[in-house]
Amino acid sequence: MTQQSDAQNQTLSNLMHEERRFDPPADLAAQANLTATAYDEAAADRLGFWAKQAERLSWATRWDEVLDWSNPPFAQWFVGGKLNAAYNCVDRHVEAGAGDKVAFHWVGEPEGETRDITYAQLKDEVCQAANALVELGVKTGDRVAIYMPMIPETVVTMLACARIGAPHTVVFGGFSADALASRIEDCDAQVVVTADGGYRRGAASALKPAVDEARTKNSVVRKVLVVRRTGQEVAWDDSVDVWWHDLVAKQSTEHACEFFDAEHPLYVMYTSGTTGKPKGILHTTAGYLVGAAYTHWGVFDLKPETDVYWCTADIGWVTGHSYMVYGPLANQTTSVMYEGTPDSPHQGRWWEIIEQYKVTIFYTAPTAIRTFMKWGDEIPAKYDMSSLRILGSVGEPINPEAYVWYRETIGGSRTPVVDTWWQTETGAIMISPLPGVTSAKPGSAMTPVPGVVADVVDDDGNSVPDGSGGYLVLKEPWPSMLRTLWGDDERFKETYWSRWPGMYFAGDGAKKDEDGDIWVLGRVDDVMNVSGHRLSTTEIESALVSHPKVAEAAVVGATDETTGQAVVAYVILRSAAGDGGPDIVKELRDHVAKEIGAIAKPRQIMIVAELPKTRSGKIMRRLLRDVAENRTVGDVTTLADSTVMDLIKEGAATSTED
Ligand code: PRX
Repeated sequence: MTQQSDAQNQTLSNLMHEERRFDPPADLAAQANLTATAYDEAAADRLGFWAKQAERLSWATRWDEVLDWSNPPFAQWFVGGKLNAAYNCVDRHVEAGAGDKVAFHWVGEPEGETRDITYAQLKDEVCQAANALVELGVKTGDRVAIYMPMIPETVVTMLACARIGAPHTVVFGGFSADALASRIEDCDAQVVVTADGGYRRGAASALKPAVDEARTKNSVVRKVLVVRRTGQEVAWDDSVDVWWHDLVAKQSTEHACEFFDAEHPLYVMYTSGTTGKPKGILHTTAGYLVGAAYTHWGVFDLKPETDVYWCTADIGWVTGHSYMVYGPLANQTTSVMYEGTPDSPHQGRWWEIIEQYKVTIFYTAPTAIRTFMKWGDEIPAKYDMSSLRILGSVGEPINPEAYVWYRETIGGSRTPVVDTWWQTETGAIMISPLPGVTSAKPGSAMTPVPGVVADVVDDDGNSVPDGSGGYLVLKEPWPSMLRTLWGDDERFKETYWSRWPGMYFAGDGAKKDEDGDIWVLGRVDDVMNVSGHRLSTTEIESALVSHPKVAEAAVVGATDETTGQAVVAYVILRSAAGDGGPDIVKELRDHVAKEIGAIAKPRQIMIVAELPKTRSGKIMRRLLRDVAENRTVGDVTTLADSTVMDLIKEGAATSTED
């Protein structure tokens, strides 16, 4: 396992021996949605089990075959079936008489700004937006890019796209104009939906200028539909830009939806891979929706009549897609959607929202939990959070201390915590405890959900015995699996399916404990996980070397107390650049933010004279991680020049950090 740090391994293995375990509370167990028999049922007839889950959706035409796996790794699920994802998320609930039920309690960042949206209102708005997209010339199959803040119009736009069969690609609002442009270009998105800006940390931030700048980088975009959220000034091009309030509001609230093939593309979500170019993960309609709806219902033991659910993810990431939009809406859930940051205007904002809306199920990321731990127990203690009954964690390994704090301080020691492992590629949760069925151990994602077959294997692809570590794989196809990488079938095969025949390689290292429960340890490839966001070391290296003063760069992910991992960069400057000038570190950090986005800014940049390389010229990142994590540098015998490490350690001691 190359990327795994020894320290991380050591800590986790110590903690695994602590053997803390929480059994499902009796009240939850008594009425759990899934029961222990689901595991046996799925094991005995996996496809039959998935067919049963597919019954959760409304189909215009039922499928003929559950899975066609005749041309692996290209799967087709629910072959011959026809359905519409937006109809399943909205219309059918209104038709069933739930039109007055709240779909979203939306909470704006500026205090007091809230909006409740019922299913009936959502249906009207989705129809209007669908009609507007059609008026802009969007046809079935065309891609639409969405670059938006956390506002209801973002959900409306996604569903409007789904309704007309135009795959959306949502680009996280924190990505730069360059990153946006490359995504727009890769999937040829001719229409972009954006807003003038959004609110973050108590201030209005801008979005439209990044779209304007992205448009100068290629000539793909024909139309930009702009929501007025903040009222800030925006540059305007009459031939391209259209205000949402001008175009959408005048549309009819009726739109007859068409039913699409089960395998019709639903969306493309870009995520970092091991090379510089982000991968466009393609999800298709039926399998994805089945996976999202089933897991949302089963893993969170959702009772749609009484639960108030809140997932804090940004819609720009896959968690926002599966567990804020498609899963919850397919299940007729009432959700909270919050626009801003947890500390605005005060550090108790999230807990205040939980108290106010009596949230029962809460899903967030370990980074956030660790941040709240730092802020202090007295902040959540001010709020009544007795409504909570289930807590979830996602995005990165949760350290047992954070898990226990979350359970005790936020969950009042009552609530089970489900540590859910999955990926953009898997579309839905793959490994997780079931809160009313299975026990949970702090730090372990435990067992695959019924219907999913996961394992930990060694270098040769053999299943490792309990008590050992290796690579996490999925051994059978699942409905919400990615179908390919947009425009790159070869890379899809090569990245995920080439290592061991017939197995999906997730890119994560994992261990099985003595009970056979799975502990996911982190990436084993050149992908870092910073605050639950996937970043590619190669992509950041490319961004750094695109700066005129940089000759060479190496990036590693170093363990970080709050963000899980942090980006640490080692940079060799071109000789013409001299020492780079007094602001070189800031200059380079800003350059990375401009190329990729602020989330990719290195925590630390060390200007060095050389990089440790093997005789064949490969950078030894392991040694750079040792320095970044303040550890004794490991074995240097394979280095071409073993004195290099002394120079680098000196550089580290004098490097700037901010
Ligand atoms: O390394 C794993 C980590 O996040 C990666 C997937 O990132 P992304 O596609 O951005 O999706 C994040 C939200 C699903 C995985 O390869 N990861 C995700 N959940 C967990 C996790 N690592 C450990 N435990 C988890 N629960």
